[in-house]
Amino acid sequence: MSVTECKMVDLPKVSNAQGNLTFIEGKNHVPFDIQRVYYLYDVPGGAIRGGHAHKNLHQMIIAMSGSFDITLDDGRNKKKFHLNRSYSGLYICPMIWRELDNFSSGSVCMVLASSIYREEDYHRNYSEFMRALEG
Ligand code: TYD
Repeated sequence: MSVTECKMVDLPKVSNAQGNLTFIEGKNHVPFDIQRVYYLYDVPGGAIRGGHAHKNLHQMIIAMSGSFDITLDDGRNKKKFHLNRSYSGLYICPMIWRELDNFSSGSVCMVLASSIYREEDYHRNYSEFMRALEG
């Protein structure tokens, strides 16, 4: 797995004078089956979230409101994204270490995930993650 597989995906956007509308039709727009949706909000200024990798989970992250940065790391290369559009999502494949920071006030980070929550799917220790990549 490589950070080059992690990409910004444009979602449909219907705009008119009354505002914008974006929709997500499962596999038409997201490259995995969505089994869970969760969101981060009320994140205090200066907070850092993430700090882990997933063994099998695929995710798409969308800045529903406000903005934040996501740094991805596949053990060899790092790539940083600034998310600030409700109509684009960052696809993250399994085995990518991620950190989220620089949350703007009032930002909402929505995550679409390919599985329900399973703690055993996490690498929460960076050297353990690196060993798993080498393994
Ligand atoms: P974690 O994934 O570490 O959050 P982040 O990556 O945003 O820093 O999860 C934080 C806590 O929330 C952890 O105790 C597990 C719990 N949690 C759930 O119970 N269900 C979920 O779907 C998620 C994502 C987390």
